[in-house]
Amino acid sequence: MMLAPRPTWLEISRSAILNNIGALRTRIGPDCRLMLVLKANAYGHGAAEVARLGQEAGAQAMAVAALSEALDLRRVGIDGEILVLGYTPSHLAATAAIHAIRLAAYDFSTLYELNEAARSVQQPLTLHVKVNTGMNRLGVAPDEVVPFLQAVHDHDHLRVEGLFTHFATSDLTDKQYAYAQFVRFQAVVAAAEEAGLRPPLVHAANSAAIFTMPETHLDMVRSGIAVYGLDPDADEAPLPAGFQPALSWKAEVGQVRTLQPGDAVSYGREFIAQRPMTVAVLPVGYADGFPRRPHNWGSVLLYGREAPILGRVCMDQTMVDVTAISEEVAPVRMGDEAVLIGRQGDAEISAAEAGRRIGTINYDVVSRILARVPRVLVE
Ligand SMILES: Cc1ncc(COP(=O)(O)O)c(C=O)c1O
Repeated sequence: MMLAPRPTWLEISRSAILNNIGALRTRIGPDCRLMLVLKANAYGHGAAEVARLGQEAGAQAMAVAALSEALDLRRVGIDGEILVLGYTPSHLAATAAIHAIRLAAYDFSTLYELNEAARSVQQPLTLHVKVNTGMNRLGVAPDEVVPFLQAVHDHDHLRVEGLFTHFATSDLTDKQYAYAQFVRFQAVVAAAEEAGLRPPLVHAANSAAIFTMPETHLDMVRSGIAVYGLDPDADEAPLPAGFQPALSWKAEVGQVRTLQPGDAVSYGREFIAQRPMTVAVLPVGYADGFPRRPHNWGSVLLYGREAPILGRVCMDQTMVDVTAISEEVAPVRMGDEAVLIGRQGDAEISAAEAGRRIGTINYDVVSRILARVPRVLVE
């Protein structure tokens, strides 16, 4: 039994992360750089720990969504290349320059302020220019890329290191739209080359594209979900063999009680026992990322069997039915280990399965597990 600092915790497998990074490295080959996507606390896995493992395993760069996430990594001593993929307001640019954090750039009107911010701290600010090829999220229009690169070059404290885009549908079997985006991007890269403005790092591929569109690897790939051993899409873009899920979510039984017919469980008395029952109380709830509505997790594993959730999930506690387990397998006791995500005996609740139950995807399931759930690195 793990002695975690709280009786609900995540176990992050060091060997799984290292294995997955190794498998990615093999897949992309020695001439392509690997950028680990560590946004949202490394999709819930613990950004500092995954960053350290990434550096150990030879990943060359890291990406986050916001400058605050990059600063959190610097604060725990992570040096090396970090790119902020999202929007960074100009008033934060000086901080980015001081900490040598790369920013995504895509708007002409910000360049003057970015340059002034970098000048004010006497540090260059390094940019990766984001191109909108069809995701219609962030990015400069393809026909504005060359003038944009030129404009960046005209600012003495700005440097362009990268040029990148992002696929909207690389996780679908039908790759038509993704390839149309890629063709648009390649035209932009060719135009930049012709103008003598091609930056050293041109990148596009996310995890799904790494496996299904190898021609998009270019100078660097950006992988998130595959690092964590989870499928980009369970049906249309499963990971190849050899990847391992790195995260398990566990909780220790806090109390076991028996119910008589007519006894109710939890707020609102939504569940009322029809027969004598045994119930285990788990110290995990919706303020941990274990949702109450519109759907709850359905069940957890105890003794390798499903223990269904009874009544409403509370903020920090949840009750589960262990009647059958106690009768048929072993009497459930305080301190027993329940599994919310992961394997127990022959049973498994994967992040994708939890996602199906609560109406979302594996990305969402793991990245919504809140910070107060301790992350424990295991072998
Ligand atoms: C711009 C960008 N690149 C790369 C990724 C990594 O994607 P994935 O986790 O599917 O590998 C993301 C995450 O959504 C992203 O927003």
